[in-house]
Amino acid sequence: VLVALGLVAVVALLYRLRVRQLQAHHERQRDFARRLIGAHETERMRLAKDLHDGLGQHLLLIKNFASLGLSRKSVDGDADSYFKRISGAASDSIEETRAIVNELGPQNLRRFGLTEAITNMIQDVEAASGVAFERRIADIDKLLSEESELSVYRVVQECLNNVVKHSKSSRAEIEVDHVGRGIKIAVRDFGSGFSPDEVLSKKNRVGFGFQSIRERVDLLGGKVDITSKPGQGTRVSIEIGIENGQPNHSPDSR
Ligand SMILES: Nc1ncnc2c1ncn2[C@@H]1O[C@H](COP(=O)(O)OP(=O)(O)O)[C@@H](O)[C@H]1O
Ligand SMILES: [Mg+2]
Repeated sequence: VLVALGLVAVVALLYRLRVRQLQAHHERQRDFARRLIGAHETERMRLAKDLHDGLGQHLLLIKNFASLGLSRKSVDGDADSYFKRISGAASDSIEETRAIVNELGPQNLRRFGLTEAITNMIQDVEAASGVAFERRIADIDKLLSEESELSVYRVVQECLNNVVKHSKSSRAEIEVDHVGRGIKIAVRDFGSGFSPDEVLSKKNRVGFGFQSIRERVDLLGGKVDITSKPGQGTRVSIEIGIENGQPNHSPDSR
């Protein structure tokens, strides 16, 4: 009887543990969903701000220069300068639209493929931030499904953003490699660094960036490694297996 009772107790205990595990898992998922919604909301606010302050502003300038040009019955010289300003503001609007559209869904990626899209992104980040990225980019086109490629693109984007936002480094390195049946990505800077134990510990998680990197790479069945120390820079390396070792694009899929 004692043995039977003991057995029941053990089973009950295991059951309780399992339930608790599942509860914790659900809690983590809910937490992630909340953060995801929050991040989407932030993203929309940023796009709204870009549209309003950037594009809206340029269009207003164009409208004003045009009415000024029309109302002044201006001498030729004046009209010339208004046309120049209109043309300048229109160019800015085009540039701004390109940036906003690319943020919404990387046109780069569809048009040029993952490898070139990453290269272009690095160029854009360099131009906008002044951080110099030393790079070694292998051809990783068409190794993954389009959906996975978008994930890889977003992951690289977050790594570059972190370097620019947090590292205070003026130079960094990015490596994209096609090794065996996988892809390796490493982004490294020589800046301020941080203490992963503190920043990434569950209780006082701050940013959503690393979490979404982890989440995306997890979904791709890959691994993320974050190495950093205050004052000694940061290195994020990511390994992703290639699905079935087969390209997942049909040849004419884009
Ligand atoms: N390259 C980096 N250099 C220094 N600190 C970094 C770097 N990347 C991330 N961090 C630190 O880790 C924190 C978490 O990063 P992340 O999850 O991407 O969130 P966020 O960028 O939104 O703050 C950052 O707030 C910053 O303190
Ligand atoms: Mg970040």
